[in-house]
Amino acid sequence: MHNRPSLYERKILLGVTGSISAYKSCDLVRLLRKEGAQVQVVLTADAARFVAPLTLATLSGREVYTDLFPAANESGDWTRHVSLGLWADALLIAPATAQTIARMAHGFADSLLAATVLSASCPVLVCPAMDRDMYQNAAIQANLTTLKAHGHQVMPADHGELASGLIGQGRLPAAEAITDRLKSLLGVGPGPLSGKTALVTAGPTREPLDPVRVLTNPSTGTMGYALAAALAKRGATVSLVSGPTALDPPAGVQTTRVGTAAEMRDAVLARRSADIIFMAAAVSDYAPAHVSKQKRKKGKAPVSLALHPTPDILLELAKVRSPSQIVVGFAMETDRGEQQARKKLSNKQLDWIVLNNLSDPGAGFGVHTNRVTVFSADGACRELPLMDKRAVAESLLDIILVQGK
Ligand code: CTP
Repeated sequence: MHNRPSLYERKILLGVTGSISAYKSCDLVRLLRKEGAQVQVVLTADAARFVAPLTLATLSGREVYTDLFPAANESGDWTRHVSLGLWADALLIAPATAQTIARMAHGFADSLLAATVLSASCPVLVCPAMDRDMYQNAAIQANLTTLKAHGHQVMPADHGELASGLIGQGRLPAAEAITDRLKSLLGVGPGPLSGKTALVTAGPTREPLDPVRVLTNPSTGTMGYALAAALAKRGATVSLVSGPTALDPPAGVQTTRVGTAAEMRDAVLARRSADIIFMAAAVSDYAPAHVSKQKRKKGKAPVSLALHPTPDILLELAKVRSPSQIVVGFAMETDRGEQQARKKLSNKQLDWIVLNNLSDPGAGFGVHTNRVTVFSADGACRELPLMDKRAVAESLLDIILVQGK
């Protein structure tokens, strides 16, 4: 049987904005069409200075739209931003200029593309392209963070030679890479991590004291589940080892539920050959030394409990891991966060550690947002702003797997 291309009949709305890399949108349109997609191009007025509407209309096989309003002497369609938003399965903005990114971050509706972004309810992928220092500018980075917080995906710009002659980050990624990212956003095709295996731990552990009481912590598992879902969406074969949580297993992820740290250890070591390992579980460091078979009855005298350390799963993993694996740990601290995180990074032979500071409002247990800082074994440090945990997961994958080693 003839295999259908992976974007067969997918409706892709491609917004092209005024960057020199707009010429690459021609290649992108060709590739998307080759993959079976229907492509509708919306150009900003500035983009039309770099690439002719006729070129994109010919390549896409559709009229290219630019204006929000019909010309004064025409009684055309002025609700096109609404119909385009309803039509699209995905909205791809490539290249996205600083101006368009700022418009989107602040909800402006002053061009057909900007208004369409506001009315579209489909997934949105933004591919920034600009010069090196513009890309690093704090205002741009803050706007990109806002876009992620609004649920849009942002594909990091490539590093290399820029139109100005400078070398740095800011290039529009290749059409193939953008198409792969779009496919993973739509859940089709192999995805950039296809062929890779990943292991994620999530949630608390629960150490019994007697048949009705446990020693545990308030972890809800949200961060680990978001990571497992994000890895699967990018094509990895994902195993999730989860302590007790109220969350549904993420789609397409093989989920194993465990109770105690010892059970989690066995489940993790059985899957230790994974290419990528994220240890996001909040493992109980101690378990009651004696588990009573019967319910312990209350009395009037104070009670002391003997506690035994649980296995340090990550430390055990460190002893058997191979250098080709990417192992990422988490640290949850209340004080001297960076110092503690760096110590764990080296003690547990991690490639990266993700630090949450429990004293940060909006970060840590039981909230949907997180503010993390990531440290790498070779000294890199990236501080991410407060974001939804799903956006944190996407950013971590971008930093660790796309820009990392
Ligand atoms: N971890 C683990 N097994 C344990 C304890 C922790 O695998 N028994 C993992 C966590 O999943 C996390 C990392 O180790 O990725 C750091 O966990 P954390 O509790 O912050 O560090 P500890 O080494 O337990 O140090 P401490 O509690 O003293 O801060």
